[in-house]
Amino acid sequence: MQLNEMIPPSVSEEVLIDEEYKELVSEHAQIQYLYNAAIQFINVRLETLTNEFRISHRNNPIHHIQSRVKTPRSIVRKLRKQGIPVSMTNAKKSLHDLAGVRVVCCYIEDIFTIARLIKSQDDIQVITEKNYIEKPKANGYRSLHLVVDVPVYLSGAKLFVPVEVQIRTVAMDFWASLEHNLRYKAPSEVPQEIVDELKECADIITATDFRMERLSRAVNQLQDDESSPYR
Ligand code: GTP
Ligand code: MG
Repeated sequence: MQLNEMIPPSVSEEVLIDEEYKELVSEHAQIQYLYNAAIQFINVRLETLTNEFRISHRNNPIHHIQSRVKTPRSIVRKLRKQGIPVSMTNAKKSLHDLAGVRVVCCYIEDIFTIARLIKSQDDIQVITEKNYIEKPKANGYRSLHLVVDVPVYLSGAKLFVPVEVQIRTVAMDFWASLEHNLRYKAPSEVPQEIVDELKECADIITATDFRMERLSRAVNQLQDDESSPYR
C-alpha cells in the first residue's frame, strides 16, 4: 500500500491546478522512474535481510514495509507551503522525501538493528539521521529518519538518488498515521485540548512499546533457557 493512501483529500489539501503545476506533472512523469529505482534498491536490501532472518530462524525485526514516490500534488503543496517556486528542479533540491520507504518494526530495538544494517552497507551513503525516538517531537511524534543516497545505474551514467527511510514500531506507526489523518481532517488549527490529548496518547503508546519490548525479551529468555544443554 502507498504511504498515506488512506488519507481522504480535504479542503486544506487542495492545490491550484495552474501552468506551473501542469509543467511539474509532466517533469515528474519523466523522472519518477529514478525514484522508483531508488525505492526498489532499498526494498531489495530489506527483503534480503528478511529472508536471511527467516532462514536462520531469528526473529524478523520487520513487521511490514510501505513505499511511495511523492505525488505531484504533494510536491506542489509542500513547495508552496515553504514559499519555494514550483518546479521539479526546486523539488529535487529542497525535498529529500521524493522517494520514501517506511519500515515498520515489531520492537524499539529492531528499529536500531535495521538502521545499523542499512548504514553498514557500503554502497549506501547516509546523508542525514534524525532520531525522534531519543528526542521525540513536542507533539509526541517518534520515529528514526534516515536520508540515504543510493546508486542508480543508467545506460550512460551512475546517479545517486536520495531516499527518506522512516523506521518506527507498529505502535509509533499507529499513532503517526492517525495523528496525520486528524491534522489533515482538521478545518484549521488543531485546538490545544486535542493537541494535548494526542501527546498523552503518544506517551501511553511509548510506555506500551517499552512493556512489549520487555515481554519480548522475557519470552526470548524462556526460549534460550529451554534450548540450553544444561537444562
Ligand atoms: P517534512 O517532511 O516536511 O516535515 O521535512 P523535515 O525536514 O521537517 O523532516 P522531518 O524529519 O521532520 O519529517 C519528515 C517526515 O516525517 C514527514 O514528511 C512525515 O512523514 C513524518 N513526520 C514528521 N513529523 C511528523 C509528525 O509530527 N506527525 C506525523 N504523523 N508525521 C510526521
Ligand atoms: Mg517536518
